[in-house]
Amino acid sequence: MNTSRSEFSNLNVAMVGCGTVGSGVVRILNSSPELLSRRAGREMRLRRIVVRDSARQRDVPLQGIDLTTDFEQIIRDPEIQVVIYVAGGTDPAFSHISRCLDAGKDVITANKAVLHHYGSELFEQAGKNGRTICFEAAVAGGIPVISAVTQALTANRILSIEAILNGTSNFILSKMLDLRQPYEAALVEAQQLGYAEADPAMDVDGTDAAQKLSILTQLAFGTRVTLDQIVRQGIQQLELMDLLVAADLGYRIKLLATSRISRGRLEVSVQPTLIRSDRPVAQTGGADNIVAIEGDACGLLRLSGAGAGQMPTASAVVADLIDYASGRAALTFQSLLRVRSLPALPLQPTDELSRRYYLRFMVADKPHVLADIADVLGRHEISISSVRQDETPDDVDENECVARLVIMTHRTSQGRLLAAQAEIAKLPSMRGLSICLPVAD
Ligand SMILES: NC(=O)c1ccc[n+]([C@@H]2O[C@H](COP(=O)([O-])OP(=O)(O)OC[C@H]3O[C@@H](n4cnc5c(N)ncnc54)[C@H](OP(=O)(O)O)[C@@H]3O)[C@@H](O)[C@H]2O)c1
Repeated sequence: MNTSRSEFSNLNVAMVGCGTVGSGVVRILNSSPELLSRRAGREMRLRRIVVRDSARQRDVPLQGIDLTTDFEQIIRDPEIQVVIYVAGGTDPAFSHISRCLDAGKDVITANKAVLHHYGSELFEQAGKNGRTICFEAAVAGGIPVISAVTQALTANRILSIEAILNGTSNFILSKMLDLRQPYEAALVEAQQLGYAEADPAMDVDGTDAAQKLSILTQLAFGTRVTLDQIVRQGIQQLELMDLLVAADLGYRIKLLATSRISRGRLEVSVQPTLIRSDRPVAQTGGADNIVAIEGDACGLLRLSGAGAGQMPTASAVVADLIDYASGRAALTFQSLLRVRSLPALPLQPTDELSRRYYLRFMVADKPHVLADIADVLGRHEISISSVRQDETPDDVDENECVARLVIMTHRTSQGRLLAAQAEIAKLPSMRGLSICLPVAD
């Protein structure tokens, strides 16, 4: 059933999910309903909440709200105009959201996974049905980056986005450096403080940041980017020594998400990256996020703050609800759909990505090792900017002594670098895994 906003003076709202984010939404809506309604231009009533287990104890009061496990009750209720979707994953999230759109209901969601995997399908369906999807909370939690890109910066051609989009990995890297902790100890602390999931794989391997970057890239550059098109590297192989050596050289290592136009092509990557220590992105510590956006007219803008957590994320959801109630969200979404129909930008082939690199090798402390590595790099036309090797004891059998060798290169292509790395890995003096990280300009 297709209902228009003008049919009801009050806005009747349903919500799927009442966990961390959903409870925060209830808390905000309960905290100052009059002020929120004034901002929205009408009263907003949360009428129904669908959860998985209705017997579970909730830590927010739900009087007057119909709590159920039956999603169909939302679909069947003609008075529900908008559904806040704050359950995670893609199944049944995709089919639930799709059914809401078909039933004439608009959707507000914080679920980045469903938008990353099915955003195009859902946007197209919403466009055909004349419905609206709002999703400020899906990227960078409480930081209003979606409204910046889709509303405040629409006079600009976006030239680049550089961001820290995963709070867990930023917390781990910050703790490692600040407390001189190994990766494993910082990860345990992140889990104890509730920043990291029991299975933190998607946070530390770059998948979570890549999903958010794909959504941002689509909005900022009008081009769909799939996960496998994003150059992606996690933080799991970093050692405390890498962070300390980088700090000594004047850099911080951050899991940096980048989308940039370079000679008409789009570069998209999520990689641990060396960033000059005095830059704001490098100084973003703890579990915070930052998004630096460069527009051709506005220049460089930076937004930073809590990228996740109950109340910051709920703040973004309720802001979407107010935008929706006031009619602004529908206008923004329509303009978003028009931009999405522009021709897609070509992607820069990953082999041609041109950067400076930090290379760390564990090598047997023997004569000629450095010369052998330099020879391979030279044959691949990779020029060395600096070399650093920690001093090793003089009186140890040279076959047993392993040295850490760090080489900073001048700008080169990723293709050349990967070819050289493969050759270096076969040198008999290599011990253990080597690491290769880009350096931000
Ligand atoms: N937490 C954050 O800081 C944050 C930040 C940004 C975005 N997000 C996104 O927001 C969404 C929700 O996150 P969350 O942290 O609030 O998750 P959560 O605490 O695990 O809560 C999920 C809620 O969804 C309900 N649910 C799960 N499957 C359902 C189903 N099939 N039908 C109906 N209800 C179902 C659960 O019901 P029960 O309570 O009965 O189990 C629970 O209330 C996710 O997509 C997440 O990625 C979260």
